[in-house]
Amino acid sequence: MENNILEVRDLCMSFFNSHGELPAVNHVSFEVEKGKTLGIVGESGCGKSMTSLCVMGLFPQPPGKIINGSILFEGRDLTKLPPREMHQIRGKGIAMIFQEPMTSLNPVLTIGDQIMETILLHEKVTKAEARKRALEMINLVGIPMPEKIFASCPHQLSGGMRQRAMIAMALSCKPELLICDEPTTALDVTVQSQILSLINRLKNQLGTSVMLITHDMGVINEMADRVIVMYAGQIVEQAETAELFAHPTHPYTVGLIRAIPLLDTEVEELNVIPGSVPMLYELPEGCLFAPRCPYATEKCLHQRPDIAEVSPGHSVRCFRYMSGWEGE
Ligand SMILES: Nc1ncnc2c1ncn2[C@@H]1O[C@H](COP(=O)(O)OP(=O)(O)O)[C@@H](O)[C@H]1O
Ligand SMILES: [Mg+2]
Repeated sequence: MENNILEVRDLCMSFFNSHGELPAVNHVSFEVEKGKTLGIVGESGCGKSMTSLCVMGLFPQPPGKIINGSILFEGRDLTKLPPREMHQIRGKGIAMIFQEPMTSLNPVLTIGDQIMETILLHEKVTKAEARKRALEMINLVGIPMPEKIFASCPHQLSGGMRQRAMIAMALSCKPELLICDEPTTALDVTVQSQILSLINRLKNQLGTSVMLITHDMGVINEMADRVIVMYAGQIVEQAETAELFAHPTHPYTVGLIRAIPLLDTEVEELNVIPGSVPMLYELPEGCLFAPRCPYATEKCLHQRPDIAEVSPGHSVRCFRYMSGWEGE
């Protein structure tokens, strides 16, 4: 569809090691609409990063391998592109920022040199023009005294400033799609909300589409137009954000929403979902969430539900919302 910048269809990426085949991304399908923000939410280990690293062509390969599906970006299937063309798309077409800026910033180069390098790699401009663009980007992400930061190395900056510098670098070639993997998880709450509003402002200003990965439903509520909820490598629920919060349906989604800390009330303890995400080498036989699900029946313990639409644009992977449900 021409409205979508990205279409992921039935994507499967598995790791192959001594445990056998581990399905880290398990029949995942979604699209990112142009100029919109798609949120990907789930606890740690649910496959959020691997899904986005598949889009970037940056998952560990081997032991990982895409074994099924397609990733259409501007009409091209990224799973079939030769490494050289994929390299061109990274940065210029799709850029990514990570939880820990030091993983993508070079500790021994100045911020300015790193941003310039990205620009020079992708665009036919002179050094002077690249320098001017780099300074504009540093300015755009709300860093005071751009000239000073331009000449600083990453370790001389605070965590929040480093994150801004990484965003400046990611956006320096005006990518169509920006993937943010837990961009604020390592930051304290005030800086966190500044970075989120920065991402929103730049998205509107530059028309960039965004894929935002987080474990925090509060961040999703604030940022995303549409949401996919992942659990153990699968999408368990997918809907527009307003719909998801109005009618959360999968018991996992309900649990994640209940776990949002409420700032204005005294919460004794967070409402966490008991249990933990299964390891890929010991996935349950039936529904992957069944061992933690308060509604699980015999059927849930032995059969895997497909994802199915419960209302237009809202799909859920749960037997409870399919005909023939016999639990309470
Ligand atoms: N190199 C690897 N070999 C085997 N399994 C891996 C490897 N890297 C990640 N995984 C597994 O892939 C799954 C998804 O991980 P990830 O996408 O990083 O989760 P998330 O970003 O949601 O926290 C996890 O179960 C993790 O243990
Ligand atoms: Mg991750």
